[in-house]
Order: sequence, then C-alpha cells, then structure tokens
Amino acid sequence: MQDLADCGKLVSDGWVFCNSINTERAYGGNMEGRPPMESGSSQNDMDYLHVINWRKAEQLAKAGKTETIEGFKVIRLPTAIENDILHFIPEPKSPHGVDVTPDGKDIVVGGKLDTHGTVYSIDKIKQLIAAKKYEGKDPYGVPILAFQDAIRGQVEIGLGPLHTVYDGKGNAYTSVFIESVVAKWSLKDLKLIEKIPAHYTVGHLTAAEGDTVSPDGKYMVMMDKWAIDRFAPVGPLLPQNFQLVDIAQPKMQLLYDMPLPLGEPHYAQMIKADKIKAEEIYKPVGTNPLTSQKDPFAVEGGKERVERKADGVHVYMTAIRSHFTPDIVRVKEGDKVHLHVTNLEQAHDATHGFALDSHNIQLSLEPGEHANVTFLADKAGVFPMYCTEFCSALHLEMAGYFMVEPKGGK
Ligand code: CUA
Repeated sequence: MQDLADCGKLVSDGWVFCNSINTERAYGGNMEGRPPMESGSSQNDMDYLHVINWRKAEQLAKAGKTETIEGFKVIRLPTAIENDILHFIPEPKSPHGVDVTPDGKDIVVGGKLDTHGTVYSIDKIKQLIAAKKYEGKDPYGVPILAFQDAIRGQVEIGLGPLHTVYDGKGNAYTSVFIESVVAKWSLKDLKLIEKIPAHYTVGHLTAAEGDTVSPDGKYMVMMDKWAIDRFAPVGPLLPQNFQLVDIAQPKMQLLYDMPLPLGEPHYAQMIKADKIKAEEIYKPVGTNPLTSQKDPFAVEGGKERVERKADGVHVYMTAIRSHFTPDIVRVKEGDKVHLHVTNLEQAHDATHGFALDSHNIQLSLEPGEHANVTFLADKAGVFPMYCTEFCSALHLEMAGYFMVEPKGGK
C-alpha cells in the first residue's frame, strides 16, 4: 500500500520518493483466523521506500511503452523494472512522512513504529542504481537497494516520528505522534536539539515556505489531531488544534492555538501573502468560472427573458442588489428547465446566492459570475426562490417564486 510521496528538487529533481506500508500483504480477516490489518501489516521491521525516476518514466510514456487501462496510460511493472524506473529501499516500519530537504540532497523518512528520523542520500541512491548494486528483489522482481548503503544516517528523536519540515537554516522539525512533541534536529550532524510539546498528538506540520528550496524559517504550525481540553467543551466531537510556533528564536516558542472544526488537515502550505494575486471580480460580466470564459448563455441587464424551445424552457435571469429578474418564473409540470443566471454586480465582494430549495438547487454567484443549471419541474406548485447571501439591507426581500402549473391545468 503506497502512502505519502514527495518530489525531488535541485540534485534530486526528476525523482519521486513514495512510502509504502504492508510489505506483509496482510488483508485482514480477524473473524476468519487472521490478524486484523493493523497488526498483520506491522510484522516486518522494514517496509519499502519507492524511488521512482519520473523523468525516465515520462520518456517511456512518450515512446509509447504504456498500456491503457480504464483510460489511463500505465507503465507496467516489468517495463518499469527493465528500464530502471523503480527501485525499493527498506525503510523503518510503517512509515508515514517522506520529506525532501531544501537542498534536495536528503530524503527524511519517519517510521510510525520507530524512534528515528532516517536520512537517505540521493547521491548514494543514484550511485547504487548506476552500479546496479542490489541486495535482492521483492516477490514481483523490483530491485532492492541496501538500507545501510543508501542512508546518510539516522537521528534518535522519539517514538512515532511522522512528518518533517525545514527552516532553511539547517534545521529539521519532525512531528512525533506517540510522544506528542515536535523535535528540532540538525541536518548537518543529525543531532537532536530541542523538543516542544504538542497539544495533542501532532500529525502534519507546515513551516513557512518550508517545502521550497528557500524556506522562510520564521513560523511553523503543528496540526494536532486531538484537542482534548484546549477549547470550550461543546460536545463529544472536538475540533483539531492548530498551534503556531515561533521557530526564529533559539528556543521554540508556542504562540497561539486555533481550533479547526472541519476534519483533519493532511498537508498545508504557508506562503507569503503577496504571492497571492487573486481576481477581485469575474470579468467580463457573465464569466463562467468553469471555463474562465464569457458563458454563451450569459445574460445582460435588460435582456432577461424566458424562452420555450425544443429542449425545454430557458430562463435568462440576472441578479443585482436586491432582486432577481424575472422574480416570477412560470413553467408547466414536466418541463425541463434550463436556468441561466448572471450576477451583474461589479463591486468587490457583492456576492448573491440563489436557492430553489424545493429542487435542491443552491448557487453562489460572485460578482460577474454566470451559472447554468438544468432541472425537471416535476412537481406542481409554487416554490420560493431566494438569495442566500447577506447582500444588502433588503437581502431578505431578494426573493421570488418559481410557479409550476399542474398538468391539465389552464
Ligand atoms: Cu442578494 Cu441577498
């Protein structure tokens, strides 16, 4: 089972490093006399780091050495082995994070059931591959490089190392899940420097531009999977806890806790805000964000209309503070309805919503945005349609009715 992966950079550019678990090939069956997946897949001391030469794979794909399976071009395992695209290296038990250092020279792996950060060297890996120096092959014929020959060393950091980020000043920071800390250590001499407690059970980490070749080095966020007593107890389901840590000082300093209500984040990036060049509104008016083009059904102010055609009833609608035009739409039971709505607003943040709740339709229409939705008017009746964004003082009044005349009605 392949797990997380990271791309090489600089000297390791062109390579991908991907962790795996379950070299035991366990598949559960704890009521059929086999161990559950969790212990069945944790018997071996080592799993396999997958080292993939993707640039070479790209050349093979271009040369047509692929097979198409369910629409995907696939390089089959024998082809990958024959062309030196895929190699395995043993890695400590049940690894999770694999993180390439900013200079691209090292690859750091944390084994969840191990106590080390393991530092692989791309130079050593390349030499072993060039010399075809293998310690064996896996049951499918994938060549295996020797663990001790491929690593630069290991650093003892605590029980349950997961993910590693960097500050660009020669330090690595590894989340240690079982011990519930982040360990700072030196890449140069592989020595532990300091630990900071996490509240609680830290998982992923992000450091300011920490995945780039030039990390910013000022801040790190610990993404803690548990919050326990950090926030007001509002029920059995607690938020995750993001903890902001100052890593610019000689000693790591916790600055702030932030509850995160929705799910558990897997990876995040912290980038400089001036890198974001966001559009303020959709231009021209009537742009469909799915195509970034003016939609063929875009509606101009004053050209709103309802047209009955062979393929159904087309409703050309506009939204502007604070009304829809038309605000009454009349169709017949059984009609297929094509709703085309353009938000004519040009003011920053002047978003309207459109809900036709009875027909399970909810649109968010940012300034200048156009949306199309097709549905069946399968129930006779009068159904409210309304704006769902607080767009003005008369937002509640931004409403209308969708009226479906019953079959056989007049
Ligand atoms: Cu438009 Cu509320």
